[in-house]
Amino acid sequence: MKLVKVKGHEEMSEFAANYILDKVKSNCQVKLGLATGGTPVRTYEMLIEDFRRNYTSYQNVSTYNLDEYVGIAPDDPNSYHSFMFKHLFDYINIPREKVYIPNGLSADIHQEASNYEYIIDQIGGVDLQLLGIGENGHIGFNEPGTPFDTETHIVTLTESTRRANSRYFESVDKVPEKAITMGIASILKSKEILLLASGESKAEAIYQMFTGESSIDCPASVLKNHPNAVVVADEKAVSKLIATMSMSHS
Ligand code: F6R
Repeated sequence: MKLVKVKGHEEMSEFAANYILDKVKSNCQVKLGLATGGTPVRTYEMLIEDFRRNYTSYQNVSTYNLDEYVGIAPDDPNSYHSFMFKHLFDYINIPREKVYIPNGLSADIHQEASNYEYIIDQIGGVDLQLLGIGENGHIGFNEPGTPFDTETHIVTLTESTRRANSRYFESVDKVPEKAITMGIASILKSKEILLLASGESKAEAIYQMFTGESSIDCPASVLKNHPNAVVVADEKAVSKLIATMSMSHS
C-alpha cells in the first residue's frame, strides 16, 4: 500500500483526476469503480473540465458504483444514482447502459446484491476502484467489524455514518437505515485501488490504516493485503500519522 502525501483537497483531486484520465486514455474500455460522498466531487469536476476542454471520450468506459441506499428510488435527489448523474455522468458522454449502480429499490434486495457481485465477477473485477474513507475507517458502506471475505451485501448503517451523511438530508432521521454495498472482497477484486482522504476528520482513520496489522476494526486497513493500492492523503488527513512517526523518531 503506497502513500502519496499532497498539500490539500485541490492537489488530491488533481492527482486523482489525472490518474483516472491516464486510465481512460490508455484503455478506452476501462472499467472504473466509483464512489460518492464529498471527497471525490472536485475530482469529478476536473474530469468534466477535461471533457469540455479535450473531449476525452467515455463512450466505451463502464462504471460500477460502490453503494446505494436501500429504500429510496434511483431518481430520488438523495440517492447515489442522482449524486453520480448530478456530479459527473450528466456532463460526460458515458452511455447510460454502461453505468452500474445497485438498485436500492429492488423488490428483492438480496438478489440485487448477488446480481451486482455477478456483474463484478463477469468483468473480472474493476480496473480501477476509487474509494473515500469514513471517519471510522469504513470503505464503501463496510463498517468496522465487517469480515474481509464479504461480497456485495445489505448493511445496517451505524449512527456515526448516518450522522456524517445527514448533511445531504433534511435531518438525520431521514437518512436511510440500510444500504447495499460492494463488500470488502468485491473491492479487493479490483486490479488497482485509489483511496482519497482529505481533512482532519480522516486523520484517525488514516493513522489506523497505516499502523499495525490489517484488522476488521479498520476496514480500510485491508488495502495492505492488495498488491496495487495507492492512498492519496492531504496534510490534515496524514497529520496524526506524521505526528506519531516523528515522535517515535525523536
Ligand atoms: C461513498 C462511500 C463511502 C464514502 C465515505 C467518505 O460511495 O462508499 O465509503 O467514501 O463515507 O465520505 P466523504 O467523502 O463524504 O467523507
